[in-house]
Amino acid sequence: MFDTRITRLFGIKYPIIGGGMQFLSRAQLVAAISNAGGLGVIPAAMFPELSDLRQEIRLTKTLTNKPFGVNLTLFQHPRGVTIEQYIDVVLEEGIKIVETAGRSPEPYMKTLKDAGAKVMHKTPAVRFAKTAERVGVDAVAILGTEGAGHPGMDDITSMILITLAAETLKIPVVAAGGISNARSFVAALSLGAEGVLMGTRFAVTRESPAHQKVKEALAQAPETATALLERSLGNPIRALKNKAAQTILEMEGKGATADELLPYIRGEKGRKAWIDGDVDAGVVSIGQVVGLVHDIPTVKEVMDSMVTEAQALLGRLNKMAA
Ligand SMILES: Cc1cc2nc3c(=O)[nH]c(=O)nc-3n(C[C@H](O)[C@H](O)[C@H](O)COP(=O)(O)O)c2cc1C
Repeated sequence: MFDTRITRLFGIKYPIIGGGMQFLSRAQLVAAISNAGGLGVIPAAMFPELSDLRQEIRLTKTLTNKPFGVNLTLFQHPRGVTIEQYIDVVLEEGIKIVETAGRSPEPYMKTLKDAGAKVMHKTPAVRFAKTAERVGVDAVAILGTEGAGHPGMDDITSMILITLAAETLKIPVVAAGGISNARSFVAALSLGAEGVLMGTRFAVTRESPAHQKVKEALAQAPETATALLERSLGNPIRALKNKAAQTILEMEGKGATADELLPYIRGEKGRKAWIDGDVDAGVVSIGQVVGLVHDIPTVKEVMDSMVTEAQALLGRLNKMAA
């Protein structure tokens, strides 16, 4: 049992959140995280059709009666769909937990708060976290440069960001980037976080819809296997250094434009890699913590071992301090 402002805010047993993951955070994985005592999150941008998001939310509800949330990555919405339309679906479906990312959530705060939603904003910088606090979010997830997804331009590690965010903010801080097991869970709590958010660890689980070949490749990958791509576009993404990544990095080195890069960074190529198992076909976003991921357990095994081993670790630390 863990009792933090995050467990209380979201009504969950353990302060462990599954970050919304393009391609992967489908109902099965999201429900498994929530059923294991954490908080699963569906990324809205995965669904270019509003009806598909609605259907995925409904499917998730059939798989869990525990809380789960929806991620709104505010710079990323498929053509023809607006964030407001996503929010309408989320609220109509009775979802009360929203993770925002990518831009300030300010324009959407009134609608979300009026509907009684809890909002956690995920950001890679303390200055943006302060803005999010000012505009009324309930919690902040702070993402270090080691994390998958878009960990910002500043290249600051979780170790520094978590501590600084916890010292700076009054609202609870969730640590993201580089967390995979009991050791990093306890470390994050000791730095001042009241919860953790993981992507990479959950991407390599039995319930993850990633192709078995990709999961096996990731379970073998060392901590040096990732690079930051698309820095030249101002919004880097951490990804596996596969053939697609090497091509993108070479093109960026030669000054390629956004239009020239677009065919290589397209979502459908990422899907081909993640879901069809053609590992080199496209961008496979993954964090440095992949170097600590050596197996493909169930979500429940991940969560149970984090929680049980955390207790043992705390006992060990107590003895050291005695
Ligand atoms: C395959 C994959 C896809 C992701 N897609 C998104 C996304 O669409 N929106 C988002 O805010 N974060 C996305 N993320 C980032 C995660 O939600 C989370 O912030 C990050 O993985 C935490 O760092 P970690 O990988 O070290 O645990 C993605 C991560 C992965 C591994």
